[in-house]
Amino acid sequence: MKIFNLTAVAIAALCSVADLSAGQNPISSANSTETPAATFDAQATFNNRCAHCHDGSVAKAPHQIKFQLIGAKAIESALNEGVMATYASDLTRNEIKTLAAYLGGESIARIPVKRCEATEIPAVKPVTAGWSLSKQGTRFIPADVAQLSKNVLGDLQLKWVFAYPGATRARSQPSPFGNALLVGSQDGTVYALNLEDGCTHWTYSADAEVRSALAINETGTRAYFGDIRGTVYAIDPSNGTEIWRARADAHPDTTLTGSPTLHQDKLYVPLSSTEWGSAADPGYSCCTFRGGVVAFDAANGEKLWTTYAIPQTPAATGRNNEAGSPLFHPAGAPIWNSPTIDPKRNQLYVGTGEAYTSPAADTSDSVLAIDLTTGKIVWHYQSLSGDAWNMACFIGGGANCPEEDGPDLDIGAPPILVSVDGQDRVIAGQKSGHVFALNPDNGELIWRKKIGRGGFAGGIHWGLAAQGTTIFAPNADTTFTGRFKGPRSPGLYALSAVDGKIMWYTPAPEVCEPNDRPACDPGLSAAATAIPGVVFAGAFDGHLRAYDSSNGEILWDFNTNAEFASVSGETAAGGSIESDGPVIYRGHVLINSGYLFGDRMAGNALLVFAPPTDR
Ligand code: HEC
Repeated sequence: MKIFNLTAVAIAALCSVADLSAGQNPISSANSTETPAATFDAQATFNNRCAHCHDGSVAKAPHQIKFQLIGAKAIESALNEGVMATYASDLTRNEIKTLAAYLGGESIARIPVKRCEATEIPAVKPVTAGWSLSKQGTRFIPADVAQLSKNVLGDLQLKWVFAYPGATRARSQPSPFGNALLVGSQDGTVYALNLEDGCTHWTYSADAEVRSALAINETGTRAYFGDIRGTVYAIDPSNGTEIWRARADAHPDTTLTGSPTLHQDKLYVPLSSTEWGSAADPGYSCCTFRGGVVAFDAANGEKLWTTYAIPQTPAATGRNNEAGSPLFHPAGAPIWNSPTIDPKRNQLYVGTGEAYTSPAADTSDSVLAIDLTTGKIVWHYQSLSGDAWNMACFIGGGANCPEEDGPDLDIGAPPILVSVDGQDRVIAGQKSGHVFALNPDNGELIWRKKIGRGGFAGGIHWGLAAQGTTIFAPNADTTFTGRFKGPRSPGLYALSAVDGKIMWYTPAPEVCEPNDRPACDPGLSAAATAIPGVVFAGAFDGHLRAYDSSNGEILWDFNTNAEFASVSGETAAGGSIESDGPVIYRGHVLINSGYLFGDRMAGNALLVFAPPTDR
């Protein structure tokens, strides 16, 4: 029984709607040690008093598909003291908490974390750079940082598992900080976890879900991240004290999915949005969000410049045919990847997503080069023109669906800057299944290769990796929607940055049971990570694998789609591996597992592997 009466196709479009039926939410069923409102029926309450306004029939009421993006915390405050308090005035605080957790797709069970004795950790120079692990976007971790070689992979053992309290997805990539890991979570808590035993040194509570990785400055005195509601934070990584916070953009649907990149004294923050979901409401005036990059003074959070991916301000162009709501144009081109830095040319690179309204802007599905000082767009390369899409194309009657109706093929993976015989190249991957190389001086195409059929969840979805001139491309080619037809080739590819030639391809092993589909899928959508000689990549089906970089042979394979005892003694649930990628640090392999979003397999686990220490 689902609270949201959506078609499989709509769910498949990464629309963020969870299957919240009790039997299919492993976390709430596994961990319901504490039931704040045992006799309270959240689904019936929603159906009786909320659904008639939040099903797309009332203008301005966010469509229920957005509740998971809004998150339990914000829903709870809307019901307690916000705009929705009228409709919940006779509910107890506990009932409101239960309802909010249910609608927000979060588990209500609060798992205690194991505290460390030390609440303060020493400031150290970071050895990896933000989400992309290097400023060039390579996701390559050098030998002295990884401290893990090919020949010990067979000895890897699960060392400890952290259960993110209350979470149904785990997607903030851990950032190494000395002997600790800094990581965000679904309920907005940022944790400093001890690398050796997973105890918690300190926590910081952000206002909403933190999906980004933390970017730490050179002196180890500041860590930066963003939340799903568009707030950027600077905290002290030693103790979690807040230093500054700032709103990234005035648009109410702004969300920060891509991690900020720190370079010298500036913080570059990519702007994405949840407006594609707002558009499902026929009464919503679609659409006014433009993707972009904001540069902040890293010291104090002062905004230095904002560059929108679409230069023109959206203007009313007519009315939608159902509710008569004004339509705006141009809009979209969200940026949900971490900016890549090119110090030589004083520019950064980002990829943009689809347009939200018709006709599609000519900077949608593009790679942009932006001047680091002025914010000026130096060049753009549009990989796919005419791609306009939003959630109204699947639900809500379609009033706001642009006539192009997709195919929704964003460039979601951060571009990579590599050098080929002394010549720099920008390598990008797209949800269409294309990998391509551009000239960083002018954005001209050097080569382009299609490695997969593509789809809403990739093709190439979250991240490529590179070692030297070898590019590793995880391909998802998920069946999910049924919309993308033709042969699929999920798995890991290695391509030459010189000419795009495929050096090897390792198909994703098929491990899902037919009954587990479509949530279980062999596709590789999460970002890959390379260390010398080895590349790591995780799959929707929960398998984390290590591949031989020279020939693609699978050297190690671990199924994270299972339950584990966590460091606090509670059960941690693994599920799909999606979005962020593995981190290899001081002989440890770190991976998040669980991703209840777009109907993938829920979970709340951070798994840490290492060879036994007594060797
Ligand atoms: C009579 C129609 C109506 C009913 C009933 C209703 N809502 Fe709303 N809801 C709205 C409208 C309209 C808005 C937008 C309000 C605004 O933006 O000022 C909204 C906004 C919200 C928001 C977003 C709040 C924010 O701060 O952005 C949430 C969450 C929400 N409603 C949840 C609920 C829940 C849960 C219930 C049932 C207990 C409920 N609503 C009942 C019409 C309704």
